[in-house]
Amino acid sequence: MTMTKHDPIHRREGALYVEGVSASSLAETHNTPLYVYSLAALTGAWNAWMAGASQRTNSCQVKVHVAVKANSNLGVLSIFARLGAGFDIVSGGELRRVLAAGGRACDVVFSGVGKSHSEMKEALAAGVKCFNVESVPELSRLNDAAKEMGMKAPIALRVNPDVDAHTHAYNTTGKKGNKFGIDYSDARAAYSAAAGMENLEIIGVDCHIGSGITDTAPFLAAVDRVLDLVEVLERDGIPIAHIDLGGGLGIDYGDGDAPPPTPEFVKTILDHVDRRGPRNVWFEPGRSLTAAAGVLLTKVEYLKPGPRDGKNFCIVDAAMNDLARPAVYGAFHRIEAVHDRGGKGEVYDVVGPVCESGDWLGRARQLDVEVGDLVAVRDTGAYSFVMSSNYNTRPRAAEVIIDGETVHVVRKRETVEQLLAMESVLP
Ligand code: LLP
Repeated sequence: MTMTKHDPIHRREGALYVEGVSASSLAETHNTPLYVYSLAALTGAWNAWMAGASQRTNSCQVKVHVAVKANSNLGVLSIFARLGAGFDIVSGGELRRVLAAGGRACDVVFSGVGKSHSEMKEALAAGVKCFNVESVPELSRLNDAAKEMGMKAPIALRVNPDVDAHTHAYNTTGKKGNKFGIDYSDARAAYSAAAGMENLEIIGVDCHIGSGITDTAPFLAAVDRVLDLVEVLERDGIPIAHIDLGGGLGIDYGDGDAPPPTPEFVKTILDHVDRRGPRNVWFEPGRSLTAAAGVLLTKVEYLKPGPRDGKNFCIVDAAMNDLARPAVYGAFHRIEAVHDRGGKGEVYDVVGPVCESGDWLGRARQLDVEVGDLVAVRDTGAYSFVMSSNYNTRPRAAEVIIDGETVHVVRKRETVEQLLAMESVLP
């Protein structure tokens, strides 16, 4: 992957910049570990989705809902709200975030396999536009919740189309045997059950086959399965106003496995739908909107040579509690020195201070760094801060958004005092 000077995250004279601000000045002012997001990169990713959608030649709706779970920072969500995005949520907490960020409930779809009764009532009261329901027991629970409130709940059933997304096993959700969605062969019966429930209103069909997918073929297979079902349902007298194709588009993490450019991907999907007739299409992307816009800045604490012929360790001040993806999925993130020293350096495993051998951010990376230098872990705008924890009583990192030369602190660094204040000793 090459960086050009037009990239919001780029190099100037050997130093890393996020828009108009140098990474080193950010670390100096806000300390490390620090999550940095580029407003221009977030906006650019949104515009890429819109560029794909705008190539559609019929007047059917294409609605993009940001998957809040990928990056739920209020500052980030407020950017998408201003851009006119919808939102895909999976908890009552995410609903509150969307509303606090200026999003509208009428643009929210509520996904997730285990919605509680109280979450359902909260979402009904707010007026979300669709519940993506994942089982027949959930249909009954939602029907009850809506009845208690004297409402009709708008629903789509999430069907499991049984296609292999060819991604990490933990990120495969549309294959038979995954906990997600209603088995394809049971979908027609589930829709007929839903049609018989007084406080539900069927509006769509939903699917989501996985995350981090770089190949378009599994999406096209899922579209076919969904449209086959829609046609059956309409013959059964159940009109379907939209199909929701979920999220799942991967990004180029620089590990040799890259998806098509977003506009091309979106156009390919929409063309495939349109070949079978015009339909309103909804999406729920997360990673492809936020991942590349984020950088995790961290400082080198120690350089620890390994045993002779063994590996060297570059111990940084970010750890698996800050960025869990490498430890959890073996995920690859590019790691680069913030200041190019111009030498070849050494090969290091880049690891954090947490007391586990699984605490690594990158393996066998060529880096020319000294103690005190900064390194940047790239593409950490999705599933990064949101998956962080306080393991080893490590306060979570701060988050900033860069807009040109302006730095907005959108989450303060936690303090140990705040962590301890949640707990108490026995009397
Ligand atoms: N819709 C639903 C129902 C989902 O479950 C997800 C992601 C999305 C949309 C957004 O998918 P995306 O466009 O971001 O692929 N923590 C993992 C990823 C988990 C994805 C969970 N569901 C990782 O770090 O790779």
